[in-house]
Amino acid sequence: MANIIFIGFMGSGKSSMGRYMMNKYGYTHIDTDEYIEQQQKRTINDIFANEGEAYFRDLETKCINDILAMDRDDLIIAVGGGLPMSEVNQKLLKKLGRIVYLRASEDTLVNRLKGDKKRPLLQNGDLRDRIRELFNRREETYIGLSDVIVDTDNCSYETVYTDIMEGLK
Ligand code: S3P
Repeated sequence: MANIIFIGFMGSGKSSMGRYMMNKYGYTHIDTDEYIEQQQKRTINDIFANEGEAYFRDLETKCINDILAMDRDDLIIAVGGGLPMSEVNQKLLKKLGRIVYLRASEDTLVNRLKGDKKRPLLQNGDLRDRIRELFNRREETYIGLSDVIVDTDNCSYETVYTDIMEGLK
């Protein structure tokens, strides 16, 4: 076995897919955002507002190091959309397991993220413009880092699951 890591943009379904595989197939699922919120006993909004983004990024690196120290090979790990952007995190993710990029189109992302209040990077300006700008900056990294790319637009969880497993064979 090897851990499976989901990367991708906010709203691409990483956490939902992790939860689905936990509930249906019994995997142990760790979501880095939830892990950080539990450790810090406060929300990501609160961390961004009081400590700033750089502090949050350090917490993400610490989180991945903590998961590595668990020394497991049977986990599904959904990581925050910005976590794979730093080189140090890229190295850690490669050590941690096989990397699956869950891809979604801009329209899907806009629909899923409309009205979101939990993601500090999307609270200002036009949502579609903001998504496009961040996505354009990040997509090359998501593609370069991943072992498998799975398209999720209009797909059921089960279809995405099958595609992930096929891709990882
Ligand atoms: C972020 C994505 C979020 C969360 C934080 C920053 C990003 O996680 O870590 O709001 O920079 O893309 P999700 O990708 O789970 O929404």
